[in-house]
Amino acid sequence: MDLDAIDREARADLGRAASLADIEALQSKYLGRKDGRLTSILRNLGTLSPEEKKKVGQRANELRVSLETDIAAKRQTFESDSLQKNLAGQKIDLSLPGDAFVRGTAHPILSTIREICDIFRRLGFSAVEGPEIETDQNNFTDLNIPANHPARDMHDTFYVEPAKGDTGAPWVLRTHTSPVQIRVMKQMSPPVRVVSPGRVFRHEATDATHAAVFHQVEGLAVDENISFADLKATLAFFAEEFFGPKTRVRFSPSYFPFVEPGAQMEVSCFACGGTGRVPTGDACSICKTTGWIELLGAGMVHPQVLRNVGYDPARVTGFAFGMGVERLLMTRAQVRDIRAFLESDIRFLGQFQ
Ligand code: DAH
Repeated sequence: MDLDAIDREARADLGRAASLADIEALQSKYLGRKDGRLTSILRNLGTLSPEEKKKVGQRANELRVSLETDIAAKRQTFESDSLQKNLAGQKIDLSLPGDAFVRGTAHPILSTIREICDIFRRLGFSAVEGPEIETDQNNFTDLNIPANHPARDMHDTFYVEPAKGDTGAPWVLRTHTSPVQIRVMKQMSPPVRVVSPGRVFRHEATDATHAAVFHQVEGLAVDENISFADLKATLAFFAEEFFGPKTRVRFSPSYFPFVEPGAQMEVSCFACGGTGRVPTGDACSICKTTGWIELLGAGMVHPQVLRNVGYDPARVTGFAFGMGVERLLMTRAQVRDIRAFLESDIRFLGQFQ
């Protein structure tokens, strides 16, 4: 009978099979869907007499099951053999050092902004941000710099082309972070204590100490009975935290339209201790022998500014200050060229970690 022959031949083939490929060939030779030898017999059962059909059918099915089992078993041994061979061939050396992962860091300007805001946060100031595209009204007019005021010349301004039908125009790229004062005061009633860090823009030629894009932190405190003494104490605390505990501060008169009186604050030179001479006796190059470094602008909020935002200058007073972040960091870290902060040279930036 055909089936016995198939059985014998299949067993012989199975015994000779030496690889996974042999197993696959064998599988299709006997059990292939299309023309496997056993499959053909099973498919043609219908042509046999009922008696034969039962006998042959039973035997053929038994053979199919046992062949499938044996083929699967053999396939399994080949598969695990090849896995073992692969594993043996690729030894992993766990003692080999891995590839170092270089971690990024915050840009020095960003970390300085965070440092400044943290110092003021400890005095009860919260940080708020405003938009970089500002209305002329917030950037100038409400800060007591009306159109045609000569103080506008201090700010070389980028104007933004308004869209057709835009009623908020004229727009500017903010020339300082002071407009955030106006936004905050228009939104909340006193007491107010905020610092606002951010990017500012000036239409001017770039050189070692000037950039068209730089950063400022603005500060504002408004409440009943705020005096110049509060301003001095706040900024003296900041100077000590930022430049070191021995730092002294001094104020001299200065003009900003949005404060009255206005002042500029200097700090004693941290490099020479305010003596103008470094320990070797040489002239101090940081303060150019003056012993003092000009740091920021400040003053008491102008009554007109308070009125512009709906505050009553008879009831509340306030102080404000504004500082350049690049300038502060350049002073402390002795960076000579402001452009270094914009150039993304990792050798420069990496020194601030
Ligand atoms: N907004 C000024 C500037 O750009 C800086 C400044 C000066 C801010 C005095 C103030 C201030 O709040 O009181 O240059």
